[in-house]
Amino acid sequence: MNADGRTRLNQTPEWTALAKHREELGDVQMRELFAADSGRGTAYTLRVGDLYVDYSKHLVTDDTLRLLRELAAATDVFGLRDAMFRGEKINSTENRAVLHTALRAPRDAVVEVDGENVVPGVHAVLDKMADFAERVRSGAWTGHTGERIRNVVNVGIGGSDLGPAMAYEVLRAFTDRDLTVRFVSNVDGADLHEAVRDLDPAQTLFVIASKTFTTIETVTNATSARGWLLDALGDEAAVAKHFVALSTNAEKVAEFGIDTANMFEFWDWVGGRYSYDSAIGLALMIAIGPDNFREMLDGFRIVDEHFRTAPAESNVPLLLGLLGIWYGNFHDAQSHAVLPYSHYLSKFTAYLQQLDMESNGKYVGRDGREVEWQTGPVVWGTPGTNGQHAYYQLIHQGTKLIPADFIGFARPVAELSGELKAQHDLLMANFFAQTQALAFGKTPEEVRAEGVPEELVPHKTFKGNHPTTTILAPELTPSVLGQLVALYEHKVFVQGAVWDIDSFDQWGVELGKVLARRVEPALTEGAEVEGLDASTRALVATYRELRGR
Ligand code: F6P
Repeated sequence: MNADGRTRLNQTPEWTALAKHREELGDVQMRELFAADSGRGTAYTLRVGDLYVDYSKHLVTDDTLRLLRELAAATDVFGLRDAMFRGEKINSTENRAVLHTALRAPRDAVVEVDGENVVPGVHAVLDKMADFAERVRSGAWTGHTGERIRNVVNVGIGGSDLGPAMAYEVLRAFTDRDLTVRFVSNVDGADLHEAVRDLDPAQTLFVIASKTFTTIETVTNATSARGWLLDALGDEAAVAKHFVALSTNAEKVAEFGIDTANMFEFWDWVGGRYSYDSAIGLALMIAIGPDNFREMLDGFRIVDEHFRTAPAESNVPLLLGLLGIWYGNFHDAQSHAVLPYSHYLSKFTAYLQQLDMESNGKYVGRDGREVEWQTGPVVWGTPGTNGQHAYYQLIHQGTKLIPADFIGFARPVAELSGELKAQHDLLMANFFAQTQALAFGKTPEEVRAEGVPEELVPHKTFKGNHPTTTILAPELTPSVLGQLVALYEHKVFVQGAVWDIDSFDQWGVELGKVLARRVEPALTEGAEVEGLDASTRALVATYRELRGR
């Protein structure tokens, strides 16, 4: 029993039924599943918005899917979903609502937190962002010396960096190519150095993004950025024209010296990793323009509505969440690869790492007890075809089961022309070939038939049976990006709901932060830090010696 009287997840009849079903399926082969059902390649597909989702290449049958849906029903995934959309405080350890879906709600929607409709506030901020973005883009907003802003540097970390930085890369073809937009996150001074070394301070706008405005990396980099600006412009008053803040913390923003008139607000019911469609997206909006930003929000909303209303059988985030549970909890898969076949999605998986691993990297359930089942997977991956020449060997012939998502697009971005456009078919030929090879492999008989010497047959045999989901969209647009992100947000939600964990807190990142503050004086001043373990003490001493202190 859970502390609240509910049956523990792994003792529910639905869980037990899945475990039994897994045993019965044994090492069922995808070749067999496809041979048994000639319609599988089209039957095991769903559509949401512009996304065509093929889940036929999974180690599942109709029974598996039914049993997984029964688990979702028993764990009341849809009940928690409805509570989230209603603005209930489902982030129980922080006593907060979880309302990133309100960030893309239409103007006339009503979503209440503590009896107050938050939607008008959302749109007021979006309008303020649009007005500011247009002024920067048109040159109406100038720097302290009257020069036009040509460079935008976003300073933030985690959710205040990964989302806008990822989306900027994804939507590069939609950006104003005359603007230089960079993202600084690392407290390693090299990051800021490389971002600004070739920029003219008089033409540079810093967007300081921090939900709390207390994050040490961001405050440190923002302070250094202000120093860099003032060294060149020599006048405190320049800060007002070259610094804006994106935050929930007006007090800290003012303390830092940024006029709160230049602050774009968001709210404690937006988690950092769910925030790039809030004010945190300002640098992105400046880059792509308000219309494209709004189109992206529309894309989010398409998937929100689908997740909120589609029945379990055709609910794509539910399906993807449950497939992850099938592998993580019933096949001992430890990781999940996301492999986009688009160069523009080069930062997409890194973004998903925070979304997924900070959300579901938990060993304590909502009732405060340790869970007795696996929770979030290690999420990893880089764009194809590069990965094919690096780590795909392990996916194909290694000893680990690695479920993977393949994301591809039918058309290349409109900006490509001539031969570069033609290369798209080769890219996509690889995309389709990989999931085919992963699923069906190559038998020893097929290898022998090619005349391969017997001693090499085992080496050239591909067992196959590696599960993949294929997500295919017509083209990479702002809306499609919004759809993809919302899809993963809700997939992560589904898994957290089934695992009975709070997907919206992140206490696990706190200890390292506290210890870093404690250790710093030992590095800089050689201060005696109480309670340092022997290993860290020796490392600090060696560091100081090597550093010449
Ligand atoms: O340390 C983790 C974290 O709190 C993330 O959840 C968050 O996205 C990031 O730090 C940045 O926080 P902030 O936006 O408050 O600077």
